[in-house]
Amino acid sequence: MKIPLSQKNNCTALAKTSDNAINNSINEIKEKLSATFLEHEIDSAIPFIEEIHELKKQKNALILSHNYMTPDIYHGVSDFVGDSLYLAKKSSQIKADIILFNGVHFMAETAAILNPERKVLIADLSAGCSLSESINANDVRQLKKKYPNTPVVTYVNCSAEVKAETDITCTSANALAVIESLPDKRVIFLPDEFLAQNVRNQSTKEIISWEKGKCMVHEQYQADDVIAQRAQFSDITVIAHPECTPEVIQEADFSGSTSQVSHFIKKGDNKNVLLLTECGMADNLKTEFPEHNFISSCHTCPHMKRITLKGVRDALVHERYQVSVPSHIAIPAKKALDKMLNLSL
Ligand code: 13P
Ligand code: SF4
Repeated sequence: MKIPLSQKNNCTALAKTSDNAINNSINEIKEKLSATFLEHEIDSAIPFIEEIHELKKQKNALILSHNYMTPDIYHGVSDFVGDSLYLAKKSSQIKADIILFNGVHFMAETAAILNPERKVLIADLSAGCSLSESINANDVRQLKKKYPNTPVVTYVNCSAEVKAETDITCTSANALAVIESLPDKRVIFLPDEFLAQNVRNQSTKEIISWEKGKCMVHEQYQADDVIAQRAQFSDITVIAHPECTPEVIQEADFSGSTSQVSHFIKKGDNKNVLLLTECGMADNLKTEFPEHNFISSCHTCPHMKRITLKGVRDALVHERYQVSVPSHIAIPAKKALDKMLNLSL
């Protein structure tokens, strides 16, 4: 796991010591941004970054950011960064009056379910997810009728009302382990069809999946393109997120959650990496692994990119947009999330 920015150069803590320390921290941020940003882009980002650090102090707010966030958000203002499993766990451990979640809506909703007493904000309420949009609570109820006595496992990329209908949640970091932890021979797995197929290829269980659920970003990667890249660069390591098709996963050297991808790169010694996931991931890894060569024409998630540095500043200034879940949905949804978190996989 990447060391949280707050431990490396926490402006809140540094601000108490001296102006010099603040400048050092801003200099570190500038240095990190220089891996992917042009000088004038850094110059426009810094005033927002300084203002956001000040607002966090004033409002006792903490910022959690997904690995796909742009480098100005990821390196500039985040207290904790990671994959959806890490951020869900973190949100239930931290103490702050405000949690500002930089990611998509289902992630902020998860933080709100786990923290009913805290104010959870997201910079743009329309930051959705094609997987989450593919299914609603009624669809799950119909499936449960069709397959009685079959546990429902939901990938966290779904709405709170869908989580409320399910037995246990999982993320891309633990999908196989969660499914294997169940005693049943047959499970319903929602909503990611490709993740279901990828888990099915490694599991002995019968997995009933949801054909309509696809990630609009990862479904674009093609196995033929991977084969062509390997022919061109003989020494590349191919890493694919498990939301990619089974054909792409078959061609990859490693598949894992966004944080598992960072760990894998850290442990390995191949410096040429073909990364098959959202563009923000390679941008942020370029700072962490300056010696590596990330080869890819990546695809962007339009939902993740709705979260901008200015939007983050405005969210803190106006304490908007609050994400909350009514208790009749939050209580059963929390049960499904807690079951996953208690497995400590
Ligand atoms: P991770 O849980 O691997 O961070 O993935 C979340 C996601 O939305 C990937 O598209
Ligand atoms: Fe959803 Fe895919 Fe975007 Fe992740 S990358 S938030 S799964 S649409």
